[in-house]
Amino acid sequence: MYLDPEEEKMLNGEFGEALALAMKSVVRVAEALGAERLVRIKNAHVSGISYKNIGDEGLEFLEELARKGARVSVPTTMNPAGFDTGNWMFMGIDSDFYKKQMRIIEALSALGVKPTLTCTPYLYGDIHYGDHLAWSESNAVLYANSVIGARTNRDGGPLALFEAVVGRAPLAGLHLEANRIPQLVIDFSDIGRTIEAESAYSAAGLLVGSLSGEKVPLVRGLELTPGRTSEIKLFLAAAGASGGTGLVLIENVSPEKPQVVGVETVKVDAGMLREVREAYLGGGEATVVLGCPHLSIEEIIDILRLVNERGAAKHKVFLYTSRTVYESVRGVIPKLKEKNVHVFADTCMVVSPLSRYAGTSIVTDSGKAAFYLKAQGYDVTLMPRQRALDYAFGGEA
Ligand code: F3S
Repeated sequence: MYLDPEEEKMLNGEFGEALALAMKSVVRVAEALGAERLVRIKNAHVSGISYKNIGDEGLEFLEELARKGARVSVPTTMNPAGFDTGNWMFMGIDSDFYKKQMRIIEALSALGVKPTLTCTPYLYGDIHYGDHLAWSESNAVLYANSVIGARTNRDGGPLALFEAVVGRAPLAGLHLEANRIPQLVIDFSDIGRTIEAESAYSAAGLLVGSLSGEKVPLVRGLELTPGRTSEIKLFLAAAGASGGTGLVLIENVSPEKPQVVGVETVKVDAGMLREVREAYLGGGEATVVLGCPHLSIEEIIDILRLVNERGAAKHKVFLYTSRTVYESVRGVIPKLKEKNVHVFADTCMVVSPLSRYAGTSIVTDSGKAAFYLKAQGYDVTLMPRQRALDYAFGGEA
């Protein structure tokens, strides 16, 4: 594999032990992927931040890297942590968990990673068509590739961090034009209207992920347009949960419009969608959790408008968002609490210990949250946001 003179020096340790370690890992992955060279990246995003997920081993790895003097060389942001750093006691976090999570955030900060603690870096970053990135949160990877037309592989957290340190990624996978063409067409045209009328984009996304696996699909027949960020977020996050692809080309949304030649087409029918929905029909008294991926300011305002028209919620509602959005709605948070609606920043329902503060029976509008919470043993019902809020305030499932 070709390395330029600067990359050779990094690899040989001429810029220090930490850079050499990071470069060795990036080169090893590049060779495994058959990359001919590395490509400079503009931005990185690191997942695997929650102590709940990475434990002592992950914490020690990050602290060791910081001790060795590693530092990111491009703007790099952090995914959500294991609790709301400003409201952790509410979440039933013990002091050991608290201290270790804060050490993870401190170690990453020492590496130069910005503690944004959100999984929606695409709502805040300066990311454009054609930019090469090293992102490691699947919903963010899918959004960057599929909606913005940036180029990133679906990296693991440690790899994205090493790529951020060396400022380069292997020129392979979705960094290459040749790998961004559809390998499968998924045609929703028979039920596109139903999906729109029933806001079933999370279920549609789960279906796309399971049909495409690692392949790049072209999705046809959905009534999505580029401005519908909320629905697109839910759709892509769900596809990324049930499948391994990092790019879903959506007709009328994705900026890339490659030719589709001789590719298998799967026509989706109502029965296929029903099957997905029936997999998430929990029961009993449930807590409503919204914000996977993290809610944007527009989504929070929409929810606030709805909540304002009602009395107190009969079932608890938990909303998850970024610190930036939280701060801009801080003034209304006490009023919401009185209505049994709680807003959290820095974390989410999947990476925090949800059962400690929400019980084990959950209603959500997110296919991704439904997928992972069910795998963690929760009793999960998937329903559109409006219905989930109706359930919370009206008490009917
Ligand atoms: Fe984000 Fe947590 Fe969902 S990190 S995409 S809210 S699982």
